[in-house]
Amino acid sequence: KTKLAVFASGTGSNFVAIQAAIEQGELDAEVVLVVSDQANALVLDKAKAFGVETFVFDPKAFTNKAAFESKIVEALHIKAVEGIILAGYMRLIGPTLLHAFEGRIINIHPSLLPSFKGLDAIGQAFEAGVKITGVTIHYVDAGMDTGRIIAQACVAIDDADTRAMLQTNIQQVEHKLYPETIQTLITKGDFS
Ligand code: GAR
Repeated sequence: KTKLAVFASGTGSNFVAIQAAIEQGELDAEVVLVVSDQANALVLDKAKAFGVETFVFDPKAFTNKAAFESKIVEALHIKAVEGIILAGYMRLIGPTLLHAFEGRIINIHPSLLPSFKGLDAIGQAFEAGVKITGVTIHYVDAGMDTGRIIAQACVAIDDADTRAMLQTNIQQVEHKLYPETIQTLITKGDFS
């Protein structure tokens, strides 16, 4: 089983989808650590419910990104983590983590990159009035949502859709695409 860490700042619905795929035998992995920069994030309650250990840190308690990322790398090594899955982790990854896990960090973003990078990609697409948006899974590099694309899936926006409906449709696609793509990468040996 490939040992993964999930990084999340919020709700953790993608973390739950990954756990569900593992329990259903569709994903040959184990999430050994959930890392969060938000002490009150709902993902932490979900991790506890699944019995997954958590590593929570307050970025403001450190002098810089290298300082807190060194602590994260330490925690990841203790748990023998092989791959990092960003799932709503709302922070750029710095050189410390990038070098320690080169080519083994992936992210999910709720748009068809390179369109609608950054914050509130769903709202950006909705406001732009595009008729097709979607989901992208990509390797993480030093940029914001710029790494090499691994997989994409599209989501249509009907004229009658609200922003909330679009979010529901995007997340439904995410919850299927992320576990499937992680399994494909594990089979390819990307994390080992
Ligand atoms: C997901 O929709 C993910 O694509 C997005 O945050 C949400 C997290 O949901 N990520 C980004 O916007 C990254 N720039 P979750 O906490 O329920 O998994």
